[in-house]
Amino acid sequence: MNQDELKKAVGIKSVDFIKPNMTVGLGTGSTVYYMVEELGRRVQTENLTVQCVTTSTRTWQQAEKLGIPLKKLNEIQQIDITIDGADEIDQNFQGIKGGGGAHTYEKTVALNSKRNLWIVDQSKMVPTLGKFPLPIEVNPFGCEQLFKRLQSEDLHPQFRLTDNGQPYLTDMKNYIIDLHLGQIKHPHLLADWLDHQTGIIEHGLFLDLVNTVVVGTDHGPQIIDQIR
Ligand code: A5P
Repeated sequence: MNQDELKKAVGIKSVDFIKPNMTVGLGTGSTVYYMVEELGRRVQTENLTVQCVTTSTRTWQQAEKLGIPLKKLNEIQQIDITIDGADEIDQNFQGIKGGGGAHTYEKTVALNSKRNLWIVDQSKMVPTLGKFPLPIEVNPFGCEQLFKRLQSEDLHPQFRLTDNGQPYLTDMKNYIIDLHLGQIKHPHLLADWLDHQTGIIEHGLFLDLVNTVVVGTDHGPQIIDQIR
């Protein structure tokens, strides 16, 4: 199976975790796309009753078109389960997200969820985090000063640009800086440092957050539970 087929298989499989009357967080990305399509199908053809919150404008628009009932995060009590993609997951179930620039909303939704389930193709499972550039969402105000600070800490920052060479803008109209680290030996230490830098809205290290991963393999989707 190619990567897209693996993404589709885990996206469809993950909808089995959604039970009637649940409040569900919908992630963002090309793997989540398939999950949302399948959820829409089940809402329409099986009358599956759910309410959902989304982690991006993209996902909101897709879900809305499919007739999936949507709420704002401030309107709901608690999220039963959030299903999202990831860019890398290590052996300790720590992850990098934000390849699609949506990690601030994704982390906010994840932190308000009883259970977090990630759906990935097998290429996302890695021994050590960091080959995938670590995204950080930054306030445009003073961002060049922050950039210099990141450079001086040897974090190899690069502004994310669109195809036309313009700064990439998040849903909140902030910029993304990607840190090209190669390897993150101490994710908690790095996360702690990033958490304390004024100007950084949120970084893409998702630590101690995920409960279950559905990995797309050539033998079909594999479910791995993390006991926390
Ligand atoms: C969005 O900002 C990201 O966190 C995505 O969830 C992540 O990049 C995975 O995306 P794909 O499913 O498209 O690989």
